[in-house]
Amino acid sequence: MQRPDNNNKGAPLPGQNAQNAPQSLGEIYDDARVKLEGRLTQYRLLHSLSVADIADLMANVYEVDPEYARLAGLLHDWDKNYTDEELVGRAERFNIELPDDPRNMAALLHAQTGACAVAQEYPNVPPEILQAISRHTSAATDMSELDMIIYVADMIEPLRSAPSLQLLRSLAGNVPLEELFIKCFQSTLEHLIRRHRYIHPGSVAVWNAYAAKEHAQKRKG
Ligand SMILES: [Fe+2]
Ligand SMILES: [Fe+2]
Repeated sequence: MQRPDNNNKGAPLPGQNAQNAPQSLGEIYDDARVKLEGRLTQYRLLHSLSVADIADLMANVYEVDPEYARLAGLLHDWDKNYTDEELVGRAERFNIELPDDPRNMAALLHAQTGACAVAQEYPNVPPEILQAISRHTSAATDMSELDMIIYVADMIEPLRSAPSLQLLRSLAGNVPLEELFIKCFQSTLEHLIRRHRYIHPGSVAVWNAYAAKEHAQKRKG
């Protein structure tokens, strides 16, 4: 495995010349599949392929475009192999606002810089896919169906081995997508609390937004 592009600070980030960039989503998938071999560890590459497969399956169940889901799954960890320092440099070059608190910074930034880098590498990738890549760690208060599929697929894909995932896997396809997403998000927060880890204020805001929505729905029903 090679390190992904290590650019000098201030140098433009590499990207394909728009004329040479693959056009269709299928061509982009094939091109990215090869490029990811040079960007990710073997495990992370297999994880990305696994997320693509699960996202495709989920998209068929939840009636979302499976080609979008498969490509977003493949690309979601495009920037995962950078160090914290490199991610900060990339975030600055992409004009991404850095989190106030450096804890969990890499986890948040690789999603956001990855979306920007993918947009540069593949100008034809639709904004819905870029958004799903960007939100796959932090989530958001207004997740689209594609965003939720990538968030969930990243968590439940079969190469992950945590015992708590069995229940979440069993729910996939058997409960509404938003309910499944909330259960996965809850599991992430519980994991952080059990380990006395920092919870980003943005994650708390996401939880509160969906808890309020669920509460309002229960009161209506
Ligand atoms: Fe990731
Ligand atoms: Fe991932």
